[in-house]
Amino acid sequence: MRAQLAAAWTLSMVARAASRVLSVLPMGDRAERFLLERTWSSGSAAMLDRYLVAGYQNPRLNLQSIALRHVLVSRRFGAEFESIMDEEIRFAIGLNESLRARAAELGVKMGSYRNPIKQAAVRRVDAAIADRQMQLVDRWRSTLEGRSIEPLAVLELACGSANDYRAIAESGLARHLDYIGVDLSAKNVANARRRFPGASFEVGNILELPYPDGAFDEVIASDIFEHLSPEAMEAALEEAMRLARHGLILTFFNMADAPDHEVQRRRAYHWNRLSWPRIEARLRESFASVSAIPIARLLRDRYGYAHSYNRHAWTIVARRAAPADLPSAWESRVRSS
Ligand SMILES: C[S@@+](CC[C@H](N)C(=O)[O-])C[C@H]1O[C@@H](n2cnc3c(N)ncnc32)[C@H](O)[C@@H]1O
Repeated sequence: MRAQLAAAWTLSMVARAASRVLSVLPMGDRAERFLLERTWSSGSAAMLDRYLVAGYQNPRLNLQSIALRHVLVSRRFGAEFESIMDEEIRFAIGLNESLRARAAELGVKMGSYRNPIKQAAVRRVDAAIADRQMQLVDRWRSTLEGRSIEPLAVLELACGSANDYRAIAESGLARHLDYIGVDLSAKNVANARRRFPGASFEVGNILELPYPDGAFDEVIASDIFEHLSPEAMEAALEEAMRLARHGLILTFFNMADAPDHEVQRRRAYHWNRLSWPRIEARLRESFASVSAIPIARLLRDRYGYAHSYNRHAWTIVARRAAPADLPSAWESRVRSS
């Protein structure tokens, strides 16, 4: 037993030393993959299962998670459910506002934390909406129930511990999808499989995936491109474009209407601010329609809500065919097609 513990300790020290060396060297493909895997798998499986789904990231009230579900619904059902979409956005704004007010009362700084004490503080704030948060996902479940329609083949890149999939399942949308989620972290994939034994989750690297061209109707991804080096981001975008038969729905947490990407390397990964015009130009090489939803601007201009959880949050929707047909609640002034 002692010998095994000593061997495990030595291995973890070697891996830590390798991370330190790699994190200051120029990133090659293999080094970046190693660092991403180590970074995103650090911490316990239980912590990862709670990470990125609390506070403003809770997919039942996170506006980008909701936009993602609405675009998927509109891809399958057209404009039929637009009034519930508008209602859900207004409801989610109410939940966001309740969290903001409660956090101020308790003096909690809201964020996505790996630290268990900070996670617990966010959960105390979340208690303020516990009795209401299921209201709209329940409405969707009863609305979509009994519908039978050809399922949409969807690949989610960097799905975490089924973070967005939780609300996709609760809302009854999962029944209308032929879904696969891929993540580099085996702990995340194990969490996702445990939560949803009937769904497909695979360990995989989004820079090179084993599926044939156009294997999925829609490729979706949330909050991953900013964490990659510019070269890896290009490779991941290329993969997403290659695999999507019809369209892409991409969520960005750090995007700006600026001419160039702002690259910021953290020790083991990146925290870049991506340029909408550059991403748009890249997507336009293959997609006839590319639309942007700058979330904070939309909430302020259309819904009169000035306190978006993140003023750099943008969702991008691309379609091989024009027009993009965004649900009307999400149409935005930066849209181009
Ligand atoms: C910021 S989290 C986003 C998770 C989830 N999409 C969400 O929005 O909550 C980034 C995720 O990307 C995964 N990841 C990082 N690099 C990856 C890669 N090269 N291939 C697949 N997944 C990757 C991490 O394991 C982590 O789950």
